[in-house]
Amino acid sequence: MTRDWLRWHEDYDTAGSSLARRLEVVRRHLGRALTEAPAGPDGSRSLISLCAGDGRDVLPVLARHAAGRQVRAVLAELDPELAGRARSAAGRLGLAGVDVRTGDAGLADVYLDAAPAHVVMVCGVFGNISREDVSRTIAALPALSAAGGFVIWTRGRGTQDTDPSMAIRAGLREHGFAEIAFEEPADARFRVGMHRLIAAPVPARRLSGERLFAFA
Ligand SMILES: C[S@@+](CC[C@H](N)C(=O)[O-])C[C@H]1O[C@@H](n2cnc3c(N)ncnc32)[C@H](O)[C@@H]1O
Repeated sequence: MTRDWLRWHEDYDTAGSSLARRLEVVRRHLGRALTEAPAGPDGSRSLISLCAGDGRDVLPVLARHAAGRQVRAVLAELDPELAGRARSAAGRLGLAGVDVRTGDAGLADVYLDAAPAHVVMVCGVFGNISREDVSRTIAALPALSAAGGFVIWTRGRGTQDTDPSMAIRAGLREHGFAEIAFEEPADARFRVGMHRLIAAPVPARRLSGERLFAFA
């Protein structure tokens, strides 16, 4: 059965919920990434958000960060209602550089024209796809990221013996990323990581026609 992602988003509105707390961490990391990511030759930065939901982790940060309005952002979200909410929010916030695409973020072609990006958001994705797809998506990140660009990701702790975020951290390291931050609150089951590409980026066109993941 597919999850009700509209319902899932409602937990954001419960003050103190795990999701509301996670949101604060993700937004804080994004603010830092926007400050520290190298800008492109024209001074702007670009961002790709995979499975963007209603965009609340990205849009308010772009609206209030000094460099946020110059960011060219592509948000890819499959659900038309959530994509519509993100589009409306971007409009309300006057974020002209935000392009919300209603599409399958598992297909790299949906956002490949926005790569290489200074920030890639992979929030609420890794816990919903197979281990093979997690590996494939991590392996694709050097082709989506600009040199020195950031990846911000989340993973739930789950109920397994081994915390699945450990494999994500190891995979990112293996693919040329340095860990900048990793938060695992003792009283919550979410984990938020921020990594930076320190290896040479890989040409984005390598991902043309590739499927990175499908929600399980
Ligand atoms: C766990 S939520 C995360 C939303 C957002 N990234 C956040 O952290 O608030 C997962 C989102 O992925 C979307 N989704 C599921 N499969 C997708 C796909 N193949 N392509 C794009 N979005 C997808 C769902 O509609 C849902 O909005």
